[in-house]
Amino acid sequence: MSEPTPTVAVLGTWGYYGLLDDAEQIEVETPYGPASDNIVLGTFEGRRLAYLTRTGRNRDIPPHRINARANIWALHSLGIRTILAPTPSGSLRSAIGVGSLVVPDQLVDRTGRTDDTFHDDDVHISFAEPFCASTRQTVVSTLRKNGWIVNDGGVMVAIRGPRFSTRAESRWYAAQGWDLISMTPYPEAALARELGMSYTCIALVTDHDVIGDTPWPVSQELVREQLDSNTLRLRKALLQIVMELSQR
Ligand code: ADE
Repeated sequence: MSEPTPTVAVLGTWGYYGLLDDAEQIEVETPYGPASDNIVLGTFEGRRLAYLTRTGRNRDIPPHRINARANIWALHSLGIRTILAPTPSGSLRSAIGVGSLVVPDQLVDRTGRTDDTFHDDDVHISFAEPFCASTRQTVVSTLRKNGWIVNDGGVMVAIRGPRFSTRAESRWYAAQGWDLISMTPYPEAALARELGMSYTCIALVTDHDVIGDTPWPVSQELVREQLDSNTLRLRKALLQIVMELSQR
């Protein structure tokens, strides 16, 4: 008998290979071209789970080249209905520290991307609450149980990349009351909503962007270093979240 298809997927930036023991890889054709990589399906303690790495197997797809439509469409076509989306993020507040997590509840799109819809017909989705409210709660409580410092809520500003922000941009974002900055949650969140999927962003704070007098302005090395040193621990918590979600 073949294994049931999972309904929950981790859509991550890097470091999720090896997450599942008995993984099977599926290449999905989409009307939008290839997804960032094969989708991996496997089991953890009896719970089925999928994952996809948005930056590609060789970590060589920059944020502005990620084919989010193909990725989201591919996951949906396999039966995924809940996406957990860990993403490296810069903190725009000194009180939100590097190495902590934020589960944002609001999003501002500053990407300028136009590949952010599946619709060329007259369809307008509601996006007032861009992230799934009920999954967010499970995510926050499970991360805390796993020992993480977690900010429950916050405004994420998504930029296109690949460059980081200027000091003036960073100062302006912070002055708007926005808390975090990242290059990946948009258009993923909007595309998932169009397909009726639950999407929860889990922001791993890797840097303080270029706010104020931060002694460590953001750099690619800094982001990678933080990602690499926190991903294993975050992976464990993600598996716990999947267990919790399957008991809801
Ligand atoms: N991803 C991680 N840190 C970032 C930053 N400071 N700006 C944009 N994307 C990021």
